[in-house]
Amino acid sequence: MPRTHPEFANLRIFNHPLIQLKLTKARDKTTQPLEFRRTLNEIAGLMTYEASRCFETRDVQVQTPMETTAGIGLGKPVTLVPILRACIGMTEGIMAVMPEARVGHMGIYRDEITLKPVAYYAKFPPDMADGHVLLIDPMLATGGSASHAASVLKDRGCIDISLICLVCAPAGVRKMMEDHPDVTVYTAALDRELNDKGYILPGLGDAGDRIFGTQ
Ligand code: PRP
Ligand code: URA
Repeated sequence: MPRTHPEFANLRIFNHPLIQLKLTKARDKTTQPLEFRRTLNEIAGLMTYEASRCFETRDVQVQTPMETTAGIGLGKPVTLVPILRACIGMTEGIMAVMPEARVGHMGIYRDEITLKPVAYYAKFPPDMADGHVLLIDPMLATGGSASHAASVLKDRGCIDISLICLVCAPAGVRKMMEDHPDVTVYTAALDRELNDKGYILPGLGDAGDRIFGTQ
């Protein structure tokens, strides 16, 4: 079960040893893009497994080869909304444990100077607001990108939103708590601080660059 945090009511931290082992590998600067991507996908799958405990289910009947028995279905559709581009390193891992999920996309990058989010793409399933939406991004730094993304989802009528991010900084969690107190933030680590360029310390570096080898 995730840990809660005394200062951030919106935060749930996964300290499961398997998640922490893989996070340690992701933080290691010698981990190369192929291994980095594989590790991020594995962590994302494990985090989704834990975060999905609170998903609504409904009773269904299933016909086995022998007889009819009780089973469950999802109570509401689930839509993943990865924030391009770094979330590409997490989405497959989540789809592996939740193949029923639909996937929308949001393209947002952070201006290097102002650190403000710049949105450049959005594509969602039309009935996304009827169900649960899982925003996905490996990094929550200033919180500008995730907060913007949550606002876009709310503009589209979504009311049941949570965010899965691998590593977050206190500033980002605080911004989400102020802007979107109704959005639960699931993370593997609450790190110490941001540096003067808005990077998380100790963090894992630039997630997009490490996934795609672009640094
Ligand atoms: C990274 C990361 C988040 C954002 C977090 O994306 O994937 O989207 O920064 O920073 P914030 O909390 O301060 O907004 P980046 O801007 O590097 O874009 P990229 O994924 O296209 O490389
Ligand atoms: N985006 C990243 O990829 N890494 C950080 O540390 C902060 C923002």
